[in-house]
Amino acid sequence: MTGSSHELFDFIAAELAKFVAGEDENSHPFPVRQRELGFTFSFPVRQTSVASGTLIKWTKGFSIEDAVGEDVVGELTKAMERVGLNMRVAALVNDTIGTLAGGTYYNPDVIAAVILGTGTNAAYVERANAIPKWRGPLPKSGEMVINMEWGNFRSSHLPLTDYDHALDVESLNPGEQIFEKIISGMYLGEILRRVLLKMAEEAEFFGDTVPAKLKIPFILRTPHMSAMHHDTSPDLKVVANKLKDILEINNTSFKMRKVIVELCDTIATRGARLSAAGIYGILKKLGRDAVRDGEKQKSVIALDGGLYEHYTKFSECMKSTLKELLGEEISDDVVIIHSNDGSGIGAALLAASHSQYVEVEES
Ligand code: GLC
Repeated sequence: MTGSSHELFDFIAAELAKFVAGEDENSHPFPVRQRELGFTFSFPVRQTSVASGTLIKWTKGFSIEDAVGEDVVGELTKAMERVGLNMRVAALVNDTIGTLAGGTYYNPDVIAAVILGTGTNAAYVERANAIPKWRGPLPKSGEMVINMEWGNFRSSHLPLTDYDHALDVESLNPGEQIFEKIISGMYLGEILRRVLLKMAEEAEFFGDTVPAKLKIPFILRTPHMSAMHHDTSPDLKVVANKLKDILEINNTSFKMRKVIVELCDTIATRGARLSAAGIYGILKKLGRDAVRDGEKQKSVIALDGGLYEHYTKFSECMKSTLKELLGEEISDDVVIIHSNDGSGIGAALLAASHSQYVEVEES
């Protein structure tokens, strides 16, 4: 996550080479052809063509300065050459775009894709003539996909706590990705740590000494928080064990553990409700937030990401909030589907559809 661009792309190329080496001889239909690759790159990119784009900035704790402003496809191509891999990137796609493409392939009613994982973002299909920023010729379909980069949303209407401000200021990208910093998997556990630290320092929550481990940024990960939040044991054993194993805090009372579960709930609920608000915003923009002209239409949202997949209370709350926002009349027409590794599959499908090898019919 930190280092040089060379190191990063050499790592990716080396992993690819391993994959290719382990591939069954017969699985490649055209052994002499150059392989074509779909490249999912889950960061903000200024896309210059289907298979090129320059990195605008890093997010989610990555910090590889010499890659910023570079064409990431060019970098990967050079790295592949360095390891002797005969491959060509046929499509460069953000994970949201990959999920959208994969989603629509299996279900034509998919109109948007949302990632709730380490980071958060969404993409949707927009009418091209509704995009003021677009200067070029309109596509024949009349439609265009938009990678929203909603993780970078911020607004004075988005209330932030002291914990959020402190987390932001001390992050690798202060002032940026504010929506992401209060919703996504990279940060929820860290928010919890900050709240617990404050309670330890100012209210002696853990007794008269502040547990040393609690001072280490990012020591408490969102999967730990999720495990504590889902603890159904009568004495909250999971909470006790996590505190012991990760933070070296022993002898917690039941009352303390209960408070911690409540904190998990507060933090996760805020993130989940805000992500539902984001999805509702897309539906509203597309006029799919209400029955229009008495006509019912299905809107399917493809969702992926570890937070959505593994943090059940988060995803349940997100879904119930979306229903609440939409109201009864329309909520059954909006369906969320889980698109497992949708972004990888979607990128592969896009690569296939942009293949240089066109089957030529013999005349
Ligand atoms: C971050 C990236 C974005 C990506 C999202 C989910 O927000 O900037 O491009 O889609 O994480 O992985």
